[in-house]
Formats: sequence, structure tokens, C-alpha cells
Amino acid sequence: MRMVEEIVKNMTLEQKAAQLVQIPYAQVGREKAEEWARLGVGSFLHVMGDNAKRLQEIAVKSGAHIPLLFGIDAVHGHCLNRKATVFPTQLSMACAFDPALVKRMAQAAAKEISADGLHQTFSPVLCLGRDMRWGRVDETFGEDPFLAGELGAAMVEGYQGEDNADDTSVMACAKHYIGYGEATGGRDSYDTSITYRKIKDTFLPPFEKAVKAGLASIMTAYGSIDGTPCTSDKKLLKEILKEELGFDGFVVTDWQNVSHLIREQHVAENEKDASRLALESGNDMMMNAPEFYEAILDLVESGEVKEEQLDAAVLRILTVKKRFGLFEDPFKQADERYLGCEEHLRLNKEIARESVVLLKNDGILPLTGQKRILVAGPSADDIRCNYGDWTYFSHPLPDYDTQPVRPYVTLLEGVKELAKKHNCTVDYVKGCEINEEIQGGIEKTVAAAKKADIVIFACGDNILLAAEACDRADVRLPKAQRELFKALCATGKPIVTALICTKPLCVPEVDAHSTAVLTNFNGGMFGGLALAEAVFGEINPHGKLPISFPYHVGQQPCYYNQLPGWHCRSYADMPEKPLYPFGKGLSYTSFAYSDMSFDAKTLTLRVNVQNVGERDGAEIVQVYFRDIVSSVITPVKQLVAFRKVQLKAGESKELRFTFTRSDFSLVNAQERRVTEAGAFEIMVGGRSDDADLQKCMFTLS
Ligand code: BGC
Repeated sequence: MRMVEEIVKNMTLEQKAAQLVQIPYAQVGREKAEEWARLGVGSFLHVMGDNAKRLQEIAVKSGAHIPLLFGIDAVHGHCLNRKATVFPTQLSMACAFDPALVKRMAQAAAKEISADGLHQTFSPVLCLGRDMRWGRVDETFGEDPFLAGELGAAMVEGYQGEDNADDTSVMACAKHYIGYGEATGGRDSYDTSITYRKIKDTFLPPFEKAVKAGLASIMTAYGSIDGTPCTSDKKLLKEILKEELGFDGFVVTDWQNVSHLIREQHVAENEKDASRLALESGNDMMMNAPEFYEAILDLVESGEVKEEQLDAAVLRILTVKKRFGLFEDPFKQADERYLGCEEHLRLNKEIARESVVLLKNDGILPLTGQKRILVAGPSADDIRCNYGDWTYFSHPLPDYDTQPVRPYVTLLEGVKELAKKHNCTVDYVKGCEINEEIQGGIEKTVAAAKKADIVIFACGDNILLAAEACDRADVRLPKAQRELFKALCATGKPIVTALICTKPLCVPEVDAHSTAVLTNFNGGMFGGLALAEAVFGEINPHGKLPISFPYHVGQQPCYYNQLPGWHCRSYADMPEKPLYPFGKGLSYTSFAYSDMSFDAKTLTLRVNVQNVGERDGAEIVQVYFRDIVSSVITPVKQLVAFRKVQLKAGESKELRFTFTRSDFSLVNAQERRVTEAGAFEIMVGGRSDDADLQKCMFTLS
């Protein structure tokens, strides 16, 4: 095999410039795409199947004979392909607190992506979801850096596999580097004023874990940090990522981020300026930046940019292409039968079930006895509500009228199926659209509710109210749904609310007036089925919230791991605590924690967990810590470990968690990660709120 260094040496300047460009197939069309392939472009995105194959044939016969790399947004399965398995979104999967499950999902997705002959997925999203106004919260693993890092690293391992050159391995691309979710006002792509200390402390760790897991590529965020666009931030890309973290993959900009430096962010005057800035700051591949090609050639020819700078970027790209076996087999492709195969559908069901979170239960669930059930609400029988973003009918191919393809099961279908087994009958009235009234909707629903013993109300949002470039200032249920719910409450019937939503919505009235509440966000093809199974007790839910539900948008942010303050422990007009905290999730059984101890020499925590209810179940045990006195203010608590434990009714188990000193570290004012000596508090329990946690102190010398 040719060494990549040697290949770079023999490339012309034009071939090098082209190698750094990633072209969107749909935007340029077939003819132009083939021209780019002849020129030796490095990569295409959003091209599949035979179109990709044809381009590859051209590329390997042209110029430097370097294979193309094909990228795709397969963020919860290869969902831009209608034949593929639509898994739950990242936020949904995160409810299972289960890295091994996420890894299996990523392995399955990788098989489906490579069945299409593609090589790179723009996933995982490692931004944190801390502002519910932001349109992309659904794409995150929630609000906590530790959880996001554990799940993100598992996802990277799953996509990339043990042997990267394998036919079923794809390159992960962690995004969006960095702080994208913190944009001011929750507005997608805006500036954020976090400091580098904060970045290193809170936002970098998930990316760091992904890098340690062998991450092949990383995408810069649209936004800027304190006025410097992430795309032109040398400190972020070169010093922190490439030097300090030792990232050896390649950096790709987000969509048109080179020209955004000119047109949106106004830090460059023209294409040449922007291209030089992007390359010199540490970007290796420029997504949808055809202008970069001519601009960089001019810059090298005029001596303003050194050719070695291009060489370094080309070398990174070719090294990853080599690592993933593209030089050996540019046409590497997995078996097409992986697409939507039985095994992946089974796994999909398993994940959807593991992700159900029971948020309230006044004892009505699981349903027992013969009942007449009314299923109502706009999310009950529209699978698009369960799918979330980045599927074949949503972003980036927005056609919301495209019909979803079977197999899938809506909540209504799931309830109907299970009702037979449980001798119940089911009526259904939609009542309203997600964001619109239906003529006579309320009256019809109320009339049906009066005849029923119980109402299952399925509500939430959809991708017309959330997605990239679709933020909301008001994150309540839309008015039509609030009114429908109010009318249902007035009937006095017990209401079980299923929240099918892209992210936490502000639903205090739903919590107050429902007898039970459950969610799994966008649970994919079988998200509705899993909710129905939980309602009937076919499964015992044990998911936990990876993100807090605020009472009101004005409380934002209300993530659990805040820095302490004292003047405003609560607002004058509302609590400062969330409606549902991080880590919350009920079960049809209950668990008791006892005999907690911490050995400061071996840094080992022991705790006994017992299933004290009458049903078998699983508990996600969460361990938090607090640094008592530190050189900088540290969070009131931080997740440091978690584990799912299955316990039969009455069974108890002793759990042990062993830590290292660095697990209790912080980033100090000098931006260095250190563990400071002194006292720490360690807490363990089934959710983040204080009252439920067992606590003890220990000292690090
Ligand atoms: C999004 C990225 C995505 C890219 C390619 C951008 O608009 O921010 O997350 O990977 O488009 O589709």
C-alpha cells in the first residue's frame, strides 16, 4: 500500500486544493458533481447508492486516483434512506442511560450506512441541551457532560468498529465543536459568551472522550465564542483539539462555514480572506465550500498561504481514508440486506422500551381491568411525531408530506393491539393538529371522553416546531393542544398523558391535571408501541431523564449541575427548580438505597440497592459528587457514574463503584484540569434531587 505521505508528495497543487473540499451532491447536481470528481475533490455529502458508485468510479480513474469519501447525516439511524431503520433520537436513547445499547445502535446504523456505500456519518452530536428554546435539543444526549461523553464515546466505538477497514465500519463525526447549544437566546448559530475555562470544564469533556475512543472526524459549530467564529478559532481547533487532546482525525467545517465568515459573521472580506482564515485556523475539509478551491489556489500561488498548510490538511484526510480501508477498496460496501433488517428492528424495539420514562403515576398505571379507553391528541397516530428530525421527510430534504414507510407502530396502533389482550375497548379522536385547531375537535373529543373510563392524551411538538434553524421562544404545548387538554380535564376523567416531543416542553398544567405522565421523546419506529406497552404494564419502565423539564421558559437554564448562588434561591413568581429534574424516572416497583460507604483509600463507593416493590424491575443508579471547597466555584452536584441494575421483586444487590482522582477534577482559573485536595461529598440514588440521595463525605489528600 502506498504511504499517504508519498501520495501527498506526488499530488499537484490543484489536487491538494480539491481534496479539502466537500461538495453537496443534491445542490450541484449530477453533471457538476462528476466534474468535481474528475478534479479530485475529497468528498461528497448527501449522495447515496448508484450515484455515489458512479462518482467513485470517476474519482479513482482521475488525477491522483484518490478515493472519495461520502458523508451523510445518519444521526439516529441511516434515516435519509426510506428503507433504513429509524432509531430513537439521541435525546430519546439517552433516557436509557445505557452506553452498551447506544453502541449496538451505532453498530447497526453503521451497517445500514455502509450498505449504501457511504463512509462517514455526521454523528454523534456532543453539544449539551440546556436551553429548551434551541431547535436542536433533540439531537443531543441531554444536559449533562458526563452522560453525553459516555454515550458519545460508545456511539463512536459502535460506528467505527474494532477494525476501521471493515466493510461495516463508518467514520464518526462528532459535532458541533463547540458550545453550539449555548447560543444566546437559544437562537441557532448565534454567539455565546462562555469562557475557555468553561469550555474546558463543561463542554470539552464529551469531545475529549470521543477523541479517546478514536474519533475519525469532527465538525466545527456554526456559532462563535465571545465573538470568534468556531470556524476561525485557532485556539479551539489547533491548540486545544489537535495539540492538547491529540486529535488525529480531520476537522470538517459545518455547511458553508467558510462563506459564513464573510456573509454572516463579517470577519472576512472575501473568499480568499475566508479560505485562508479557515485553513490557518485548523479546518481540514470545507463543507459545501466550492469557492475555497479557486481561492486557496490563488493564495498559494501569490505566496500568502504556504503549500505545507494544505499538505497538513490533505495528510489528515488521506490518513483517515487509509485507516478506513478506502485505498484498499474504494467501493467497500456492506450487504444491502442490512437496511431495515429484522435484527435491527428488534434492537430498535429494545431501545424504545429501555427509553420510556414514567414521570408521574398516581397509581393508575399499569392499566388493569376492563376499560373503555379514549385515545386523543395529535401525536397519537402520526408516526412523524415519533421520528423527530433528520429522516427522509425532514431536514435536510424537507417534505413533510412524504408518507412514512412501514414497519412502524403508532401509539394508537399499539394501544389497540394491546387492548385486545387486556379486554379493553378503544375509541380515537384526534381533537386537534399539533399547532392548529380542527373544526369541532374539542366537542368531539369531549363527547368521546365522557363515554370513556380513561383518556390517553398524546401530545407534544413535531419538526415543524423544532429543528435546525427552528427555535421557539415559547416552549409550552401549542395553544390548540392546551385547549384540548383543558377541555378533557373538565370531563373529570383520569388522563394518562404521553408526551411525544422533541425536547422538554413547559407542561406544569399537564403534570398537575394528569393522573400519569410518560415520555420517550422521539422514540422512532416503535416509540409509540413502547409507550403503549408501558401503559398496559407489558414492560416496567425504567428510563430516566437526561434533561430537566422547566416549568416556564423564563426559568432557563435550569439544568441540575448549576453553580451555586444565594440571592435567588427561587424566583418571586415561581420555583427555580425544574418541573421534572435530571435523572428522574419512576417504575412500577420501587427501590431502596442503604448501607452506603466510601473508602477514601481505594476511592470505592459501596451501596446496597433493593427492589422493595412487588414487580421485577431495573433501576438506573446515579452517583453524584460535590467539591466542598475549591479554587473556582463548582456545581452543586455533578454526575460521576451510573449503572443499570436489574432486580427481581424483593432482591437486593451491593454495588461497587471505583473512581480515580481525576473523576473529581475541575478546570481552574489557569484553564488547567486539576484535582484539588480537600473534602468532597458523594451522593447516590435514583435521581438528582437532594431528598432522594444517600450521602457521605471523603477527603482527598
Ligand atoms: C448541520 C449539521 C449537518 C450538516 C450537513 C448543517 O446544517 O448543522 O449538523 O451535519 O448541515 O447536513
